Formats: sequence, C-alpha cells, structure tokens
Amino acid sequence: MRHLYDIRDLDSRDVLALLDRAQELSRNPSEIVHQFRGLVVGLFFFEASTRTRLGFRAAIGRLGASAIELHSTRYEPGMLEPESELDSFRSVAGFADLVILRHHDQEAFESMLAQTPIPVINAGSGSSRHPTQALVDLFAIRSLLGRIEGLRIGIVGDLSTSRATKSLVTAFKFFPPKELRLIAPRGYELPPGILAEIPDVDTSSCEVFELSNLDVLYMAGFPLKRHSEGAREDLHFQYCLTVDKAQALPRSAIILSPLPRIDEIDRGVDRLPTAAYFEQSRLGQFIRIALIESWLRMP
Ligand code: CP
Repeated sequence: MRHLYDIRDLDSRDVLALLDRAQELSRNPSEIVHQFRGLVVGLFFFEASTRTRLGFRAAIGRLGASAIELHSTRYEPGMLEPESELDSFRSVAGFADLVILRHHDQEAFESMLAQTPIPVINAGSGSSRHPTQALVDLFAIRSLLGRIEGLRIGIVGDLSTSRATKSLVTAFKFFPPKELRLIAPRGYELPPGILAEIPDVDTSSCEVFELSNLDVLYMAGFPLKRHSEGAREDLHFQYCLTVDKAQALPRSAIILSPLPRIDEIDRGVDRLPTAAYFEQSRLGQFIRIALIESWLRMP
C-alpha cells in the first residue's frame, strides 16, 4: 500500500511520469476512458475546498469510478455529541479503493493515515503539505512555458503557513530553478529547512515586492486572519498585485496562484496576458486524472 502523503514520497521518475501522462491527457482527452467502472474513491475533506475536491471529483467521474464523500461527522440537535472524525473515517475508509483526504489539523490527518486500510492521497494537510497542488503547479509551468528547470521564479505571500508554497519549493529539487525569489514580510518567511533541500538553487529572501526579470510569479496570498485591520491594509498595500505592479514583469512571464484569491491579486490583473491562474486551475484536472489512474492501477 502506497500513500501520497508528502511530495517527498515521489522521486523524479514518478513526477516526470505524472507530468508526461497529464500532458498526454491534456493534448488528447479522448485517451481519458471509463476504465475504473466498479471502483470507489473516497473524497474525505475535513476542511473547505473547491478546486481540489471538485477537480478530483471530476477526474473520478471521467475515469468511470464512483465517488463517496465525507465532510463532517454526523450530528443532529438532540444528540449528546457528534461522532468523532476518526471513528467516521475508520468506518467508511474501507468502503473505498482509494481515499483523497484533506484535514486542517496535521495530527488528525496522521491519525487517519495510521488507521486506513487503503491508499491515501493527501489533498492538503496542516500548514505544510499539499503535494497534489505542487504537481498542478509544476504541470502548469511546464505546459505554459515549456520547461520548469532554469526559470526565474518569485513567490509572494505568507510563506510561513502556505502549504502550497512549501510543497512547491520542495518539488523544485526535481527541476531546479535558476533563481528563486521569496518575497514575504518579516515574520512570514519560509522555514529555512525547506531551502536546505534545494542547496544548488540561487535563493533570495526579501521584503521588497521586486518582480523584474521573473518568468513565474506565484501569488501565495495571505489567507489567515493573523492581523489587525490596519496591519492587513498595510500588507495589502505592499503585497497586493495591481495592474501597475504587474507591468514590471516581462511580457512572457506568467502569474500563478493556488487560489482561492482573497485580496492579493486585483481583479484588473485578470485581463493581463500574463494572468494564468485560471488556466493553471483548469490544467489541474489532468494531473488529478493522472494521479487517480496511477494509484488505482497499483497492485
Ligand atoms: N488550491 C487549493 O487547494 O484550492 P481549494 O482549497 O479550493 O481546494
């Protein structure tokens, strides 16, 4: 039994195979066939999700499998207390052949992983792991720019809690960028241990919103309510991507985001040819199909 718990569970061959398969599927959607009729995939999301949950749901449907969903434990007025999440998970995990699991609490996620009788794909856990988003991001970069290795990549936001950023930066060990520019206010920097995994990449950390020469701008956002209203306004003023600020990017650059957008990208930016975040989201479906195909085929 093999889980995809962390992007580190994959080696470069695995990642390349997934990206290549997603590319085949995106170029020739007729290759997506109902090959898994009769199999069941559990979508167990103990935290809100739009793209990841529905992207996997669509992938399951296109492959001919069925989805069962669990989002919260059963509770009705009059009940003494709800069933525990772990009991709910243990009861239904065995109904499926594969589980796609998200939980905001890392410990709760790991408890479920320890109890599952079947493989699990991590759809986002705690503030550190979002391996399928990293694959979506790599696939979007390769699809839109033709390569990943050797690019100049900037990431902006609260990098201390962005699990998408942490997984993506870790995944750069497979395709080292020429430059990695991490732009975050003081106190919101990426934990240094992650950079130790990509020692050959020219990495810089700064507070200044400096976008010149980037090939990829990744807007990770400031999603958590960690600030007073005034502090949030300052953050927005300094780190929100406006049309004016986006003009500093080369015309060939792409702007990505794991989404959802809160207030880190002005809506006017959506009209720029560099805005690629909705296309990134669309491309994600092919990675999810490739992942489900690969995991359901495993003996
Ligand atoms: N990027 C991402 O994980 O989006 P959702 O929370 O909508 O799944």
